[in-house]
Amino acid sequence: MRISVFGSGYVGLVTAAGLADMGHKVLCLDIDKARIAMLREGRVPFFEPGLGDLVARNMRGGRLVFATELDDEHRSSDAYFVAVGTPPMNDGRADTSAVFAVGRTIAASAARGAIVAMKSTVPVGTCDALQAQLDKDCPHKMSVASNPEFLKEGDALEDFFRPFRVIIGVQDEATEREMRELYRPLQLSSERVIVMNRRSAELTKYAANAMLATRISFMNELARLCDVIGADIHSVRKGIGSDHRIGPSFLYAGPGYGGSCFPKDVSALVHLGQDNGVTLQVVEAASSANEAQRRYVLQKIEGMFPDGLAGKTIAVWGLAFKPMTDDVRDAPAGAVVKELLARGATVRAHDPEASANFAKAYAPAGPKMSYHDREYESLDGADGLVLMTEWRHFRNPDFEDIKARMRGNAIIDARSIWAVFHLAERGFRYTAIGTR
Ligand SMILES: NC(=O)c1ccc[n+]([C@@H]2O[C@H](COP(=O)([O-])OP(=O)(O)OC[C@H]3O[C@@H](n4cnc5c(N)ncnc54)[C@H](O)[C@@H]3O)[C@@H](O)[C@H]2O)c1
Repeated sequence: MRISVFGSGYVGLVTAAGLADMGHKVLCLDIDKARIAMLREGRVPFFEPGLGDLVARNMRGGRLVFATELDDEHRSSDAYFVAVGTPPMNDGRADTSAVFAVGRTIAASAARGAIVAMKSTVPVGTCDALQAQLDKDCPHKMSVASNPEFLKEGDALEDFFRPFRVIIGVQDEATEREMRELYRPLQLSSERVIVMNRRSAELTKYAANAMLATRISFMNELARLCDVIGADIHSVRKGIGSDHRIGPSFLYAGPGYGGSCFPKDVSALVHLGQDNGVTLQVVEAASSANEAQRRYVLQKIEGMFPDGLAGKTIAVWGLAFKPMTDDVRDAPAGAVVKELLARGATVRAHDPEASANFAKAYAPAGPKMSYHDREYESLDGADGLVLMTEWRHFRNPDFEDIKARMRGNAIIDARSIWAVFHLAERGFRYTAIGTR
């Protein structure tokens, strides 16, 4: 099939390269000229394991090309995928303007009828509105399908090629057939397609993220309780996660969820409820518990320095919102580092992939803020070490080296992965979340 994908971000580029790898002829478009220039040189503009090889292979094979505008060949696409950003607006609702900009481009450029598959996460009713826009402005028959994306950054290729499920939201059988045909190569080992109407598909995406966010917030609140009553959150997690009805995933306490999806999708769902006269109390609580958790991490840090943070040097390990990505959107480390700097501390940070993005989004390098490729160098002269993101190379640190390099001895473990090392016995003042 001939396919155009709008957006070359985490979702668009993975979708474009994945569809090309399944043998389709794919044009990946973005309005960001610099990004397209990079991609044309074979450079992937963000960190996602395995994606560079996948893109290169399909470019070499002539199945994947990049452009800022639809070319003549792809004006006759069989399907247009929409994978543009839907960031939060100031009021917390999702900004869908890029989606409708794509709709205008398709209406003005398409040379024949096609499927329009919505990968972007959009409020319920957006696909209906896009269908209405295309019915009005496009001379050809376009059929909009909701096809929400569930990939996890850091594991996006696995999620694309072996998804738990492919959700397809359609209003008619012909569109269902075409969407099934698109995903046929992913169905060889088992049936993964679940078909429903468009509004249900749109809501399924928000429901999935809100459910996962709720599990995290639930555990974070219990971890705060553990800190007070002397219970251990890891034991509680294992105890409940072994129940098949509950399962072990997304039960890790930490500094609160972040990233480009959970905070914005939870907030958009809360507003969707409000706009439709339904108060989603559980979802609202998940969101406010997450805000509280971020403050809690800061309280933990402040608790280690009773005479204040001014003049202190704090090493921060991990800046990305989770390991194996360079994405820092709404990363818990962003709020923490900003607060540390605002209180007069000097921050020495290390992240193996996300430093450049972090410097741009939160804190440019300067006299009070430095970035270090080697995690141990960030510790030189530090009064405290804060672990924010549990990259694999932080699992077994050399605590003797850490101690030798630091001026102080405070360790704040916001991912609670170092309790096993009994750091108090090694001369550190150690605090974690829900464990000791
Ligand atoms: N990142 C994830 O893990 C993830 C997972 C599932 C769903 N989603 C959803 O997928 C969508 C995209 O997310 P992302 O993380 O890939 O975003 P992103 O910010 O990484 O990329 C979006 C891209 O779209 C481009 N764009 C904007 N307007 C355009 C237009 N009119 N035409 C062509 N390109 C345009 C931007 O320049 C940008 O490069 C969002 O709705 C997001 O909620 C993201």
